[in-house]
Amino acid sequence: MWKGIILAGGSGTRLAPLTKVTNKHLLPVYDKPMIYYPLTTLMLCGIRDIVIVSSPDSLPKFESLLGSGQQWGIQLSYSEQSEPRGIADSFLCAEDFIRDSNTALILGDNIFYGSGLPQRLQLAMDRMRGACVLGYEVADPSAFGVVELDENGKPISLVEKPLEPRSNLAVTGLYFYDHRVLDMAKDLAPSKRGELEITDINRIYQEIEALDVVTLGRGTAWLDGGTHSDLFEASQFIKVIEERTGLKVACPEEVAIRSGFIEHSDLERLVSDMPPNGYREYLSAVLASL
Ligand code: DAU
Repeated sequence: MWKGIILAGGSGTRLAPLTKVTNKHLLPVYDKPMIYYPLTTLMLCGIRDIVIVSSPDSLPKFESLLGSGQQWGIQLSYSEQSEPRGIADSFLCAEDFIRDSNTALILGDNIFYGSGLPQRLQLAMDRMRGACVLGYEVADPSAFGVVELDENGKPISLVEKPLEPRSNLAVTGLYFYDHRVLDMAKDLAPSKRGELEITDINRIYQEIEALDVVTLGRGTAWLDGGTHSDLFEASQFIKVIEERTGLKVACPEEVAIRSGFIEHSDLERLVSDMPPNGYREYLSAVLASL
């Protein structure tokens, strides 16, 4: 059984003043709050038991947006991260929730889109020996965790934001781990910048030869929302795709019904409670097509 963590805390300093009173992951990416994107990515992985980790003042806002998850046939819990102590700290914040399960961790500002993506993610989860990360070729890898592979696709080095990257393969913010991750996080020492680094966890798995890297091909888009420019581009990207195809990206109601998490009558009820707008019209059309 897989459990999911969405990490949606942090200080959001790079986006201030946008983030002065609003958590970054509640900001819009075109027509939806940012957190809808990682949430639906986990749902597309078939993960239905998910915890949101965020700061104490933001958690109630996430809870009023997302609720118990029952409306989408999933179970959502909420867990505090009192200070942004690093990405790997999320395992400690969610300790009671993950226990002995396999865990998928997704960063709340990561957006994935592409044909065949759910199947590829499922493959990563099925094949995983200890941990699996997703590699994605980028023009400037120095802003990310970077993984270097040998000629057989085996990871041979992992470095967080290297000044001189040894490859162009960035490690995306969606990670899959077995139950050992919790103990590894407990033993981790903070880095020079004072954070529990997810790259250190990945390096431990690599050193015990239990790390797999699945590369996402050119047909997949991976975006994150760290800067104003990233946010703006992500919104533009989603707008172009949605307008061209007439299909919404990251609509939890649609993912829920297409994944069989909810019934036709459940979606009918959800739609009837929505205000009259384009989102409701879209879901009415989905209902009519089923
Ligand atoms: O996006 C992928 C990259 O994410 C990886 O390639 C890097 O290896 C990884 O370290 C991370 O780099 P970032 O510089 O993007 O991490 P950032 O500090 O911006 O945090 C990512 C998200 O996690 C962001 O939405 C805020 C949230 N966060 C972060 C920290 C450190 C928390 O909720 N709590 C935290 O303590």
